[in-house]
Amino acid sequence: MIRRSFLKNSLLSIPILPASTVALNIAPLGKKPIVVSTWDFGKAANAEAWKVLSSHGKAIDAIEAGAKVPEADESNKTVGYGGYPDRDGHVTLDACIMDHNGNCGAVMCLEHIVHPISVARLVMEKTPHVILVGEGALDFALANGFKKENLLTPDSEKAWKEWLKKSNYNPIINIENKKINEPVAGAFPGSINNHDTLGILALDSSGNLSGGCTTSGMAFKMHGRVGDSPVIGAGLFVDGEIGAATSTGVGEEVIRCVGSHLVVEYMRQGNSPYDACKKVVERIAKRDIGKAKTIQIGFVAIDKFGNHGAFALQKGFSYAIRSENQEELIAGDSYFNS
Ligand code: GLY
Repeated sequence: MIRRSFLKNSLLSIPILPASTVALNIAPLGKKPIVVSTWDFGKAANAEAWKVLSSHGKAIDAIEAGAKVPEADESNKTVGYGGYPDRDGHVTLDACIMDHNGNCGAVMCLEHIVHPISVARLVMEKTPHVILVGEGALDFALANGFKKENLLTPDSEKAWKEWLKKSNYNPIINIENKKINEPVAGAFPGSINNHDTLGILALDSSGNLSGGCTTSGMAFKMHGRVGDSPVIGAGLFVDGEIGAATSTGVGEEVIRCVGSHLVVEYMRQGNSPYDACKKVVERIAKRDIGKAKTIQIGFVAIDKFGNHGAFALQKGFSYAIRSENQEELIAGDSYFNS
């Protein structure tokens, strides 16, 4: 069993909170500034984002600072440097960023650059476009001073070569919260497959929202495959007048329903962040219940007041929050409860 520790006043260890507790907290009191991120590794991202938010910095700067943490973390096999490669051995990264005014930028299938979130931000700020892909994204990054690096670490190369022996493609539910080399139920040599994403949403002290997503995508995916994470509306959506949402999990199913945009639209209709996430997960489950049983998808959302909520298909999804008096991991409620 994974033991989770929590920093509260740097001393207290408190149990993980059930999401239903959080869901009740939907009064427009909210909190700001606040940052929420997907998965246990969101805690470290939040800590960096919090440095910006707590000194009255902008949400967009907090997002970039937070997303860079897992991107640079070699031990994280689902984001950035050290992420598992595609089936041809290429580490291809996807990222996007969006602010409260609808400004956004994305890179897809970007190789050799440790911080795709920063390239996505430059696409947003320095080009007339929203998306750059593949070689074009790399050329743009290099022209803007980013360094070309080898992102395939020896560990990831070893896992890929092991995978090649059988080439099975079975994404493992909640792989994001497994420790490296931790045995995974149902896994066998050569079947280590995963997906995933840091999705991060922030509300700054001026009341402005921003969000970001960054991932190496599904491990051992087909070369050129892009998931939901860099697709504005699917992996991320921000509307400064309503709220923001981000997703994690098997991106193909999130793209089909433009999931994060849908979460924000449900909030626009008056739903809490928790209820909005739940409604979208229910729609995904309804479309193909058989498939839904075999995959993980989770959504996290905050509204413009700083109320937050999350919901996932399967148990095991977590999200991290950081505000002035809270630093916690929250277990997401789920559609399937076993
Ligand atoms: N959610 C990440 C992906 O599907 O690539």
